[in-house]
Amino acid sequence: MTPSAPAATAREILADGKGILAADESTGTMTKRLEAVGVESTEQTRRRFRELMFRTPDIERWLGGVILYDETIRQSTDDGVAMAEHLARRGIVPGIKVDGGAKPLALAPQEDEKVTEGLDGLRERFAEYRDLGARFAKWRAVIEVGDDIPSTAALEANAHAMARYAALAQEAGLTPIVEPEAIMDGTHSIDRSARVTEDMLRALFVQLAHQRVELEGLLVKTNMVVSGYRGQTQAGPDEVAERTVTVLRRTVPAAVAGVVFLSGGQTDEQATANLDAISRVDELPWTVSFSYARALQGEAMRIWAGKENNVGDAQDAFHRRTRLTAAANRGELAAAPSGS
Ligand code: 13P
Repeated sequence: MTPSAPAATAREILADGKGILAADESTGTMTKRLEAVGVESTEQTRRRFRELMFRTPDIERWLGGVILYDETIRQSTDDGVAMAEHLARRGIVPGIKVDGGAKPLALAPQEDEKVTEGLDGLRERFAEYRDLGARFAKWRAVIEVGDDIPSTAALEANAHAMARYAALAQEAGLTPIVEPEAIMDGTHSIDRSARVTEDMLRALFVQLAHQRVELEGLLVKTNMVVSGYRGQTQAGPDEVAERTVTVLRRTVPAAVAGVVFLSGGQTDEQATANLDAISRVDELPWTVSFSYARALQGEAMRIWAGKENNVGDAQDAFHRRTRLTAAANRGELAAAPSGS
């Protein structure tokens, strides 16, 4: 059977152990990241840093896709090539974040709960993004974790919106990434992380089935099951791998094209060590990979710090971290040389 365009693109992105760079921070998030390293956030500084990454040698060996933000997909490189075209020429599939961000969930009993907006006009936006070169898309839902949250209302509202988005993406011929993220920066235990992640993914797949989303043309991006970062005990990579795979096996059908992890505020080292441990688990039913933003970009951005003289060193750092993450994705982190 010939695979659909979304299924073929999903396979192309994850072929040969490759992963995804999430370079799709909204302007607000990118401004926070740039200001943290002393750089004023302007359209030009945001473009400069992203171009630095997209021009780093060798990255096409390890990255099958890059997720862009609306501003970036409309920008060009210094030599006048559209960003999406530049990536495509390197053999990297360009993608686009299409959600409108997580907003407070109306009448939620606890004020932290959120629902992601952005469905209105999405069919027309998909047509435009496809013309701009995007072949896959991303929608993120933010699931806050506490003793009494997430509520069923938050899980179902987010799952429903993600499924509606995924159906529209496939209708347009693009591969949807659905990204439910249980936020891990609380004090909760790994048991609580596992429970919430399982409930969240189960709710999502019910809605995906209702909306007739083709699982072979779908990528699921989610958090690893880790201890809350401010919790008293922190699970190591073997436990994280075991807990994560257990939850995924219970909730993600084998037909799904791939599971890709977000880094979610883990240190670069944790994000690679945990991915390595997950990749070493035998007989996973889906292709597993990474779709990191912070754990690929953080060090490069700190080194660059807005200075042209630092571009080469920043690219070396990005090269090294991407190479190590891809090694972790093959379960070969221990054997990978750590220098650039
Ligand atoms: P992090 O890897 O920094 O968690 O970002 C992934 C992402 O795409 C968030 O939407």
